[in-house]
Amino acid sequence: MVAVPRKPDATPIVVLVSGSGTNLQALIDAAADPAFGVRIAAVGADRDGIEALARARRAGIDTFVLPVTDFPDRAAWDAALAECVGAHDPALVVLAGFMRLAGPAFLARFGGRTLNTHPALSPSFPGMHGPRDALAYGVKITGATLFVVDEGVDTGPIVAQVAVPVHDDDTAETLHERIKISERAMLVEWVGRLATAGYSVDGRRVVPGSAPHPPDPKDIP
Ligand code: GAR
Repeated sequence: MVAVPRKPDATPIVVLVSGSGTNLQALIDAAADPAFGVRIAAVGADRDGIEALARARRAGIDTFVLPVTDFPDRAAWDAALAECVGAHDPALVVLAGFMRLAGPAFLARFGGRTLNTHPALSPSFPGMHGPRDALAYGVKITGATLFVVDEGVDTGPIVAQVAVPVHDDDTAETLHERIKISERAMLVEWVGRLATAGYSVDGRRVVPGSAPHPPDPKDIP
């Protein structure tokens, strides 16, 4: 079992991004209200020049950029990512459109307290193209999934899901944009809840509000 404790003050989080950053923006907007109980300590990206970083900088949030190509191999990049995130001492890490897999060094430090949002209803359509794959399969309902990151591709214990109907005239783009409206609301609601109330992960079950005490370090994978 992994237990992430509730925090008495605003909970520091680090958000990792790769793209337009509309999910990040939803978190930035929510965190402007002290009642949300979350402080975005830093935003990290695997590439420069993206709108997500511009959103963070406009909000006065610290940023860091770690292109994979700047490192000799994936393991070195993964270790650097863990270091950069760790420098901000976050209680939670939120992957919001971060198109990289967390590796062993990162998970050794932040496993159990890294959340990711995926634009499909897990376990269906994992990977980079959730909306496109759902459309191609012909499903009538798809959605978004918030989960605790593990070593797999979109396979971790599920925090929350939201359903979104597929329209007959949808393209992958229109479907993704409709999913993202619901996805942002889910992300804000659950990051707020988990960051302020804490949670534990028991097997595949994420139990909110069930970790009133600091975790024993040996329980953190
Ligand atoms: C979101 O829909 C997120 O779920 C997806 O990228 C989008 C980022 O949008 N992530 C994945 O597909 C990861 N498998 P944003 O940059 O506007 O927040």
